[in-house]
Amino acid sequence: MTVLDNAPAAPLSVAMREGSQAQHSAAESSTFISDLMGGRINEAGYVNYLRSLRAVYAALEETGRALAADPLVSRLHDPVLDRLSAIDADLAAWSTGAEAEQACEGRAAVEYAERIRWTLDHPVRYVAHHYTRYLGDLSGGQAIGRILDRDFARDGHGLALYRFESIPKIKTYKDVYRARLDGLDLAPAQQAEAVAEVQQAFSHNQSVFAELATHLDRFAR
Ligand code: HEM
Repeated sequence: MTVLDNAPAAPLSVAMREGSQAQHSAAESSTFISDLMGGRINEAGYVNYLRSLRAVYAALEETGRALAADPLVSRLHDPVLDRLSAIDADLAAWSTGAEAEQACEGRAAVEYAERIRWTLDHPVRYVAHHYTRYLGDLSGGQAIGRILDRDFARDGHGLALYRFESIPKIKTYKDVYRARLDGLDLAPAQQAEAVAEVQQAFSHNQSVFAELATHLDRFAR
């Protein structure tokens, strides 16, 4: 076997993006997300969305800290990405105590969080969850934040989730992040595992959106 035989066909960052393209489009056009982006979701709906994300990021960041010394995860782990305290601040800013804010049980988010915690023993798969959430926040998340700011006229208030105060240039950070992914030098089987886990992460996101969409009667604006 030559070295080339053992090299993955595409860099990891490309394989992850291409491997999740179809699911990304599906997530963008899911009912809950297209209603949210179209200004058709009320504050209670957004609070329920944030509550789901809270469970996910608690697991992501707790597991990330536990894996911070892992040879793979240590190359990506970066506390400037942490979102949990931003989500808590946003929840405090959006919550009004309305009954509908407890509408969604959040079962799908709990299952997503459980899957992330399971990756404690599977660092290659943890990398996939790290990529799916944080590169998403640094990409489409930026546009989502601007749309919410416009639709809810919040003047930036309650939108800390989308602000990365310690990252001066998001585009540069994303380029460096992709280079770090590609520098992990995963063997083909590991890369296939990572891409499969990105797909798993997208499926969990879809389940969260589908669960939120079952409460649209209370979330319609
Ligand atoms: C309204 C919903 C969404 C919109 C409008 C959106 C938009 C975008 C856009 C425009 C990009 C490309 C940015 C660039 O070229 O740098 C992107 C990338 C990305 N998005 Fe989304 N997105 C949405 C939902 C999601 C969801 C639900 C996830 C998963 C949690 C996600 C994860 C990602 C990831 C991981 C990337 C990086 C792709 C890569 O370059 O490797 N996005 N998104």
